Amino acid sequence: MAFFTSATQAIPTSLEVPKHIAVIMDGNGRWARKRFLPRIAGHKRGVETVRDLVKYCVNLKVEYLTLFAFSSENWRRPADEVSFLMSLFMQALKREVAKLHQNNIKLIMIGDRSRFDAELIAQIEASELLTSKNTGLVLSIAANYGGRWDILQAVNKMQLAAPHLAGLYNEDHLTPYLAMSYAPEPDLFIRTGGEKRISNFLLWQLAYTELYFTDTLWPDFNQEAFNLAVSSYQKRERRFGRTSEQLSEQSTDAKTDANK
Ligand code: IPE
Ligand code: IPE
Ligand code: MG
Repeated sequence: MAFFTSATQAIPTSLEVPKHIAVIMDGNGRWARKRFLPRIAGHKRGVETVRDLVKYCVNLKVEYLTLFAFSSENWRRPADEVSFLMSLFMQALKREVAKLHQNNIKLIMIGDRSRFDAELIAQIEASELLTSKNTGLVLSIAANYGGRWDILQAVNKMQLAAPHLAGLYNEDHLTPYLAMSYAPEPDLFIRTGGEKRISNFLLWQLAYTELYFTDTLWPDFNQEAFNLAVSSYQKRERRFGRTSEQLSEQSTDAKTDANK
């Protein structure tokens, strides 16, 4: 099995275009309330933004896009909003999967599925299976996902697989069991809607991710807003613990090597 560079074990290469973007799509409710509409109108509109964002990412040649659709804490919302979100999710899967497949996109759901009803689980499985051989953008949807849940389920699996190593576990033992073991750690994290928090999203995987927060509400997150996020990322200096001087020495070395 091929594993990706852990930012704490080695220094990952940073490219102009982020390889993996992870997004907290927040602000649907406020978008709707501003228009005197019910919150669910904002969620409906938010699905359109997802469709557009997938296009921007494909055009930019981003390899992995991960979207937080429903957190393990979102069950605390009013029952009618939760059931609307579940049916919207089901509808969106049914409606969009053929188009995703045509576009060579691989769809993967991360999160604890056990709380979803059988029909939704079957739809998720069918969508994943249909797109499983695709080689384009890997689109991951986090639903009933929580960063703490992810770490704990991985610890439990690791412990079952290698009980004799108890007390000696390291990162390499754990990471194959994390929900996103198939993807590199995110380069860029975007949260719309103005809040500056992680809300139990990818806790382990975001260790060295560049964080970008915008007040733009999710339904308003358009190409221009996306470009701003990417250009902010491109201006960052990703040091991974090193000094600025070390980075500039390294780039001089690289240039000298290229001229040899
Ligand atoms: C994000 O929008 C969508 C989900 C959490 C499902 P919100 O519904 O959180 O919108 P606000 O934050 O209330 O505006
Ligand atoms: C985070 O948004 C979860 C999703 C976007 C799915 P929330 O709106 O639920 O986050 P909090 O409650 O404001 O932290
Ligand atoms: Mg919110």
